[in-house]
Amino acid sequence: MKTIARDRIADAEPRPEGVRLRWEDGQEQLLDRFWLRDNCPCAECLHAETLERTFDILQAPDSLSASHVALAADGALSVVWQPGGHTSHYPASWLRRFRPDGAATPPCDAARTWDAASLPQPPAVGYDDYMGDDGAVATWLRHLLEQGVVLLTGAPLTEGEILKVAGRVAPPRGTNFGLVFDVCSKPNPNNSAYTALGLAAHVDLPNWERPPDYQLLYCLENGAEGGDTFLVDGFRVAESLREEQPEDFFVLSETPVDFRFHDDAQDIAHRAPVIGLDASGRLRDIRFNMWIMDAVSLPEAQVSRFYRAYRRFAGMLREPRFEMRLRLRPGQMLTFDNRRVLHGRTAFDPNSGPRHLQGTYLDRDLVLSRLRVLESGAGRGPNL
Ligand code: OGA
Ligand code: ZN
Ligand code: ZN
Repeated sequence: MKTIARDRIADAEPRPEGVRLRWEDGQEQLLDRFWLRDNCPCAECLHAETLERTFDILQAPDSLSASHVALAADGALSVVWQPGGHTSHYPASWLRRFRPDGAATPPCDAARTWDAASLPQPPAVGYDDYMGDDGAVATWLRHLLEQGVVLLTGAPLTEGEILKVAGRVAPPRGTNFGLVFDVCSKPNPNNSAYTALGLAAHVDLPNWERPPDYQLLYCLENGAEGGDTFLVDGFRVAESLREEQPEDFFVLSETPVDFRFHDDAQDIAHRAPVIGLDASGRLRDIRFNMWIMDAVSLPEAQVSRFYRAYRRFAGMLREPRFEMRLRLRPGQMLTFDNRRVLHGRTAFDPNSGPRHLQGTYLDRDLVLSRLRVLESGAGRGPNL
C-alpha cells in the first residue's frame, strides 16, 4: 500500500520519558515509556491467538528506559528496553493511529439527527437481502446508527421470525417481558403497551439502569382501526430545547427522577435525569416515558422548575415538526435506537380487527461489534 508522509516515521530518539518520534510531515510526538512497553506486540507480550495482552505492567520496573531506538527497513520503530534487554517492534501503520492529530481519536459520533422535514419516512432494507447478504445487514446497521431508525420490509408473517432476524446481528437481549414480547391488547395487562390505549412518544424501560439500546418491532397483524406509529428523534428535540430554552434543558439534564415498573413478580426502579449527557456535555440518552416515571421526589423548590421543563419538553416531543408518522404493515419490522428515538402509537379499536406485533431488543456493544466486523474484518474496524 502506498504510504504518505504522515504515515512514515522520519526519526526516533530515546528520551528519559520514552521515545521521541518525528513523522515525515514534521509532526512530533513523545511516546511514554510505560505506554510503549505495555503495547509491545511480540509473541511474548501479546497472545498470538487471543490477540490479548499477556504482558503484566508490573514486570516493567520504575527504572524502565528505552536504551536503544532504531527504524527498521520497513519503517517500523524498534526499541531495546533496559533493564532486561527485551526488544519491541512497532509497525508505523500501528503507531500512526496514535498521532496527536491522528485517527485513533475518540469514537466518532455516527448519529445524524432528523426531523419531520429531513426524514419523512424511515430508510428501508428488504428482508431477502438482509437474510442473504451481509452487505445488506451492514446497510441496515448503518441506518440504525446514523438515523437511529430503519425498516425491514417483505418479511414473512411467522411468529418468532423476529428472533432469526435479530440473530443476523447478535443474540437478543431479554428483559422481564421475556426474550420476545407480544404487543397486543391483553386481559390483565401489566404494561400500557398491552392495552389498546394510545401511547405518547416514549422510550422503553427507562426504569432500568441500562435501558435496551435498540428495539425491534415486528408487525404480524395490523388490521385494527388506529394503531398508527410515530417516531421522534429525541436528540434533535433535546438539541432544540437546548437552543430555545437552555434553562429547561439544564433542569432536565441535571435533575434525577425516578422510574419504576412493578407487577406481581418484579419491582424494577432506577433514578436518572430525563436528558442524559456524557462528560463532555454531549447527549447520551433520553429517558422519557410518562407511565413509567414514578412520582418525582425532589426538594420543594425544584418540583415546579422540573415540571415547567418537563412539560415544555413533552410539548416539543409532540410538535409535528419533529414527528415521523407511518403505519406498520404486516411483514414490516421497525427498529430504532431506544436511547435516542422515541416511539409511540395512536389508540386502536381491538374490536375492529386484529393487531399483533412482536418485539425484542439488541445491545449496542453487539450492534457496533457486528458492524465493525462486517465493514472491516474482525477486530480491525474503524472507530464507531
Ligand atoms: C411497545 C410499544 C408500540 C405499538 O411495545 O413498547 O410502544 O405500536 N408498542 O404497539
Ligand atoms: Zn514483547
Ligand atoms: Zn414502547
